[in-house]
Amino acid sequence: MTEVGENGAARNVALDVRDLAVHIGGLVALGGISFQVPFGAIVSLIGPNGAGKTTAFNVITGFMKATDGQVFFRGRDLARLSPERIAALGMVRTFQRTSLFTACTVFENVLTALHLRGRTGLLGALLRLPAMQREEAALHAEAREILDFVGLAGRADEIAGNLAYGEQRLLGLAIALAAKPTLLLLDEPAAGLNPSETESFKQLIRRVRERGATVLLVEHDMQMVMSISDQVLVLNQGRMIAAGSPAEVQRDPEVIRAYLGSGKRAAA
Ligand SMILES: Nc1ncnc2c1ncn2[C@@H]1O[C@H](COP(=O)(O)OP(=O)(O)OP(=O)(O)O)[C@@H](O)[C@H]1O
Ligand SMILES: [Mg+2]
Repeated sequence: MTEVGENGAARNVALDVRDLAVHIGGLVALGGISFQVPFGAIVSLIGPNGAGKTTAFNVITGFMKATDGQVFFRGRDLARLSPERIAALGMVRTFQRTSLFTACTVFENVLTALHLRGRTGLLGALLRLPAMQREEAALHAEAREILDFVGLAGRADEIAGNLAYGEQRLLGLAIALAAKPTLLLLDEPAAGLNPSETESFKQLIRRVRERGATVLLVEHDMQMVMSISDQVLVLNQGRMIAAGSPAEVQRDPEVIRAYLGSGKRAAA
């Protein structure tokens, strides 16, 4: 029997989205979607441009207000919580266009992200009290470990703005990992990457999951989506038109009609 926790969601559910709707002016960006992401899963949200994928991320992570519906993270209703509060609870996102401190080094970018999570904060670090020096040393070690994990250890002292595009995407991931996500939401991580960078990023997402995080992925690269996902959710014009295993959604006639069967992004 499935154990049921707070708010009626099964205990193995990390994210529970119920009838989530976003109306922007007269436009229905999301028309009431519902889905669940189990702990430890990699779930992908796909669909044509303008389907509502980023809008769903924005509203789930508190960057945008829902017109209707509810979002539960680990059984907790996220209504009215700020993005910072939601991130502190363990739900962390990356952005479709990476946001970095381009004038700072790679290492400083990750360290700043760690400080935002840490107890001391930047002020404490600047005062350099003994306990804080110890914490600072631990944060430095953690920053190096994260950069090593994403493969940017050799670029730690480079100015972030000088990184190649693919490296900037890796740094975006490193910054998100610094917040210690239980649930990591990735918005088109492979966009603009070449095939070998895409393959590396895919392996990295697998390793993020192996380390215990749950992943919700928005991605147009169908080879990546279909090979990495436990479950695929398909949005079209703000509606969920299909949900199932990669094999199931790939043979769904409505999905083929709306998305997989048309345009240059159909290559599977
Ligand atoms: N802030 C906004 N103001 C006005 N319209 C918006 C806003 N954000 C999203 N939209 C509209 O909502 C719809 C969904 O957009 P969204 O960005 O969520 O799509 P998407 O699935 O992420 O597309 P893409 O694959 O191109 O990133 C689109 O019609 C878009 O124009
Ligand atoms: Mg988008």
